[in-house]
Amino acid sequence: MKFTSLTTIAATLLLSASALARPTIEARDVYAPPVTYPHAGTVWKVGEHHNVTWDTANHPVNITNGIGQIMLRKAGLTTPVILASEFNILLGRITVTVPWVQNGTDYQLVLFGDSGNFSPTFTITGPASLF
Ligand SMILES: *[C@@H]1O[C@H](CO)[C@@H](O)[C@H](O)[C@H]1NC(C)=O
Ligand SMILES: *[C@@H]1O[C@H](CO)[C@@H](O)[C@H](O)[C@H]1NC(C)=O
Ligand SMILES: *[C@@H]1O[C@H](CO)[C@@H](O)[C@H](O)[C@H]1NC(C)=O
Repeated sequence: MKFTSLTTIAATLLLSASALARPTIEARDVYAPPVTYPHAGTVWKVGEHHNVTWDTANHPVNITNGIGQIMLRKAGLTTPVILASEFNILLGRITVTVPWVQNGTDYQLVLFGDSGNFSPTFTITGPASLF
């Protein structure tokens, strides 16, 4: 009997703890703007500077995470290579330096704000003089 009541108290405490932990619902929207450059057919060379662009039209008033980060993907996998970070997602453009990576026609960028959005697949080539 005593055991049962203690269990009930414990359960009640757990319930109220989870109720407290539950985040309050905020009027905020997930925002994943589409990448407009690079696009299909883009060829970048290692060491070049390029402006990655994305479409900020129709962005929601309240964005959950307005801090952007751009990472490199290859063959459908996100690599640890960060091309840009800590920028305002509403800028719509950020200059990146093409990293020292192997040639490939299967690169993509992923633009993170609230949520990741992939660019089309594009090509990165090494500088011809080094090969
Ligand atoms: C945006 O956030 C503000 C402050 O939290 C809130 O008053 C407003 O209703 C929100 N607007 C939209 C469109 O969610
Ligand atoms: C990126 O855009 C800025 C602003 O339009 C321009 O000044 C700069 O030259 C561009 N950089 C490249 C690498 O295209
Ligand atoms: C990478 O691409 C460059 C430019 O097209 C080419 O000259 C070089 O031979 C390529 N290297 C490899 C390892 O495929």
